[in-house]
Amino acid sequence: MSQQALGGQVRHDASPDFTHDEKSRQFFVQSVKVHIAKELQPAQKAVYEARVEPKFRREHNRSPENVHEVRTAMMRDPFTQMWSALKRDVQEQMFYTVAEGIERQLPALVEKAKAVRARPDKLGSLSLDPSVRVPRYNSAVDIHCKPGGYHTEVVEDDVLAGAEFERTLNLHLMGLLGPHDDDMGQSLARWAKRKFPGLKPKRILDMGCTIGNSTLPWLDEYPDAEMVAIDVSAPVLRYGHARSESLGTPVQFMQMDAEHTSFPDQSFDFVVSHILMHETSNRALRNIFRESHRLLRPGGVMLHLDGPQYHDMAPIDQFIPDWDVHYNNEPFITTLHQLDLPAVVEEAGFEQGKIFEDFAPSQTVKSPPGGYVGNRRIGNWYVVGAQK
Ligand SMILES: C[S@@+](CC[C@H](N)C(=O)[O-])C[C@H]1O[C@@H](n2cnc3c(N)ncnc32)[C@H](O)[C@@H]1O
Repeated sequence: MSQQALGGQVRHDASPDFTHDEKSRQFFVQSVKVHIAKELQPAQKAVYEARVEPKFRREHNRSPENVHEVRTAMMRDPFTQMWSALKRDVQEQMFYTVAEGIERQLPALVEKAKAVRARPDKLGSLSLDPSVRVPRYNSAVDIHCKPGGYHTEVVEDDVLAGAEFERTLNLHLMGLLGPHDDDMGQSLARWAKRKFPGLKPKRILDMGCTIGNSTLPWLDEYPDAEMVAIDVSAPVLRYGHARSESLGTPVQFMQMDAEHTSFPDQSFDFVVSHILMHETSNRALRNIFRESHRLLRPGGVMLHLDGPQYHDMAPIDQFIPDWDVHYNNEPFITTLHQLDLPAVVEEAGFEQGKIFEDFAPSQTVKSPPGGYVGNRRIGNWYVVGAQK
């Protein structure tokens, strides 16, 4: 197991090796992202207050009333247009520059993952099912401009989408999730342990696990539990399994659709997810909540983490996550954040009084309250859930 850091990110036996020039291009992309997040994004509010809102008021005799009106008005302002074009362009550059370095060494990465799978002393497992259909909400667009999404395979036993996800997640969030990119899992698991001190889970399910970066910290909090992680996409699961074995963590990775899994009723004590909800659809979300209810033992707990709901945000703050819907191939973000999620949880079969919304304090991210990166309020993770 090797754990040197690459620009603040932990390396392992399945990691890609980037050249000096590749790293240099990656850090350039990251520095532009930092500039946008720290210097240009906060100025959107000032632009709105000084120019956009007064102009709208002169034309309509009122302020913009919702995020759609704010977006339409903001996107006519030259500063916002420049911010938007730069943000979109650097997003595409990030994927191209990382994919280029990974494609160059793809045969070696496939072999590294295979070698881990062949180890006799494996801690966990990988179970792929080619009959699992990638849902249309995953395949219709390249989600957040990730070419080919999570599922596309370009070679046999492909791991490209997983290796690319690991590197781009770290670059995109500017290392804010910590060296293992696991702040969401750490934060949710620690919060869960405090909130449900009597729950001693035997089995935990992580839905939409991608490479398991948020899955692994659940075992730090609950070392005696069996950790199961599912995703519809094979290349991310292959990479995630190799990564998790290399980091010495026992996880059972399975290719399954979270809307309809093949686990028996009442198989788990926790059913959790980390930023899965905003990448699904209205119907899928309802199916995932119903499936979570079916899979929980009585007393078990469902926890789904994502960006904050719009109801406690001003329309100008909603504009930042809403931008991703229109310019970054994230079709469901605004629809999700406008839903009455506790009501959707109740429709899935959970009892009123056992349903909650809360914020899990981030374990690694230190930022002033109200700071945003993309659609995420840094410092707290929104959680919706229920106890069965
Ligand atoms: C934003 S990523 C999740 C990131 C990861 N959980 C983390 O903590 O960084 C969304 C993942 O959900 C998967 N996914 C989407 N719909 C799914 C479904 N119905 N069932 C299982 N996985 C799904 C995608 O393949 C993708 O890997």
